[in-house]
Amino acid sequence: MAGDRSPTEERTMEKIVSLCRRRGFLFQSSEIYGGMNGCWDYGPLGVELKRNVKDAWWQDMVSRHDDSRPLEGAPASFEMVGLDCTIIMHPQVWKCSGHYDLFHDEMVDCRETKKRYRFDQIRARWALAKGRRVCIAVIADAEEEHEIATARAMKHFRLRAKNAEELSWDGEFFGLDELGDTSEVLAPDAKEVGTLTEPREFNLMFQTNVGAMVDADATAFLRPETAQGIFVNFKNVVDSSRVSIPFGVAQVGKSFRNEITPRNFTFRSREFEQMEIEFFCHPSESAEWYRYWRDRRLSWYHRYGLAGEHLRMREHEADELSHYSTGTADIEYAFPFLAEGDFGELEGVAHRGDFDLRSHSEGKLDPSSNPLTVQRGEDGKPVHRGSGKDLSYRDPVTNERFLPHVIEPSAGADRATLAFLCEAYTEDEAPDDAGKLQSRTVLRFHPRLAPVKAAVLPLVKKDGMPEHAQALYRELKQEFPTYYDEKAAVGRRYRRQDEIGTPFCITVDGESLSDGTVTLRERDSMEQRRVSPDEVVSIIRDAIRG
Ligand code: GAP
Repeated sequence: MAGDRSPTEERTMEKIVSLCRRRGFLFQSSEIYGGMNGCWDYGPLGVELKRNVKDAWWQDMVSRHDDSRPLEGAPASFEMVGLDCTIIMHPQVWKCSGHYDLFHDEMVDCRETKKRYRFDQIRARWALAKGRRVCIAVIADAEEEHEIATARAMKHFRLRAKNAEELSWDGEFFGLDELGDTSEVLAPDAKEVGTLTEPREFNLMFQTNVGAMVDADATAFLRPETAQGIFVNFKNVVDSSRVSIPFGVAQVGKSFRNEITPRNFTFRSREFEQMEIEFFCHPSESAEWYRYWRDRRLSWYHRYGLAGEHLRMREHEADELSHYSTGTADIEYAFPFLAEGDFGELEGVAHRGDFDLRSHSEGKLDPSSNPLTVQRGEDGKPVHRGSGKDLSYRDPVTNERFLPHVIEPSAGADRATLAFLCEAYTEDEAPDDAGKLQSRTVLRFHPRLAPVKAAVLPLVKKDGMPEHAQALYRELKQEFPTYYDEKAAVGRRYRRQDEIGTPFCITVDGESLSDGTVTLRERDSMEQRRVSPDEVVSIIRDAIRG
C-alpha cells in the first residue's frame, strides 16, 4: 500500500542497523541464544553515545542549571535537583498512578500465523469484514492512500496534510461497539478468515515476586516510568533540600513495559531508559510553565542536531488529553523506518495538574496489610487508596498552602539516541590517498554526543612518529575519549573515524617532530590545518561546548 516507507529510506535504516552492529553501537540482546525480542545491548561505542546523550540532558537540565536568574523564556528563576529511585516500588504506587487499571493495550493473536497484533493497528479489518466502507484518506502530493477506521486516526492525517485541500477522504468511521465478532475477519498474512482471537486487554507492566514466597502478596511490578518515584518523594525533597516552588526534580533510569509488538530497532523496546522531569509550580502559573518547558525541550533537540523538517512539535487536541491534563505536546522525529511523512514520539511534555500528588495523598493505606500488596476492597478488586499523607506545599513567603501543579517533560534516552544516530547518518564522497573521490559513510554527531572526540594518527609507522603520536594521545586521553590508530593508509584511517562520527583526526608527520605542530582534520568539512598541540585541546573543548 502506498504510504509505506520508500525503498531509499528502507535501505538507509538497514544500513544504520548494520553499521550499529558492525562498529559496536548496538547488538541484539542474548544474540548467541537467538536473541531476546524487544531488548537491546549497547556496544562499546553505543554505550558512550547513549551516556553522552544522558549526560548532556542531565548537565543542561540539572547540574549546570543556573538558578540565580530567569533563563530565556522562563517566567521566573527556579531550582533543579535530581533523584535516583528504585525500580521496584510499593505496588500501591501503581494503583494510585492509574497504571494498575489503565496501562494496557488490546491485543489479538492469529491462530494461523501465530503472530500477535495490537488491536488498534489492525482494527480496519473488522469493518471491512462487515462490508463497511472504511475511510480512504488520500494525501494528494504524497500520492498516498490509507485505510482509516477511526476518527482519531483521521486527525493524524489531517495534521500531515499541509492544507485541507490536499486531503480527500470518503467512507465512514465506526465505534468499537459496532465491530462484531472475528469470524469473518482476515488477519494480515493469513490465508483463511476467522483466525484472529477476540481482542483482549493486556497490562503492560512486568510482574515479579519479592521475597521467597510466590503468592499474590509477594507480587510487585517493575516500574513502567520513572516519574512516580519523584511524586512519592515530593515531601522528602521539599523537607530535605532548600528548594521552593517553582522547582524541578529530574531522574534518569530504566523503565520496563511488556510491549505487545516491540519493533523498529530500539524505538519500542521492553526495557528502556527514560529522562524525566517533574516540575512543581503554583497552579496559577502552570500554563506559562507548560509553554516554557515545551519550547525549551524542543530547542534542546535542535541544539544537538535534530533541526529542520525531521523534527516537529505536535500539540494534542482537546479530546486526546487525559482527563487531568490541560495540555500535552509531543516532540516527534521522522525516523527513517516510518512511512514517508510519519513521525515517532521522542518526548512528551504534559501538564499533569495536581493529579499525581492528589492521588498519592488521598485515602489511607491499611497499616496492618502486607506493604507489598495492592490494597483490595471487599469485592477483591484493588482499591484506589493513597498514602493518606499530606503532600501539599506551604509557601514560605505567603504561607499559602496548595497542591502544586506539575509540568512533565518525559523523554526516552534510547529514542533520543536513535534519533541522533539516524540524523547523523550521511553518505558523501571523500578523496582517497591517491586523491580519487570515493564514497564515504559519516556519522555527523554533535561533538558533545560523539562517542570518540579525537583520533591521533601517525602519518607513517616509523621515524619516531608513533612515539610522538602516542605521547599526544596519552595527553588528550586525560581530557577526552581519544583513539590511537597506526594501522593502514591514513585515508583509510580517516574513513574509519568518519564512520563512527569522530569529529577530529590529528595527524603527526615529519614536521611535528621538528616544531611540534600537527594536522587537524575536521570530520564534516574534511578541512585540514596545522595547529599546535595546545590549540588542539582548545578547539576540541570549544566544539564540545558549542
Ligand atoms: N511519565 C510519562 C511517560 O512515561 P510516555 O509517553 O509513556 O510518558 C515517555 O513515555 C517517553 O519514554 C516516550 O516519549 C519515549 O521516548 C519513551 N518510551 C516510552 N515507551 C518506550 C518504549 N517501549 N521503548 C523505548 N522508549 C519508550
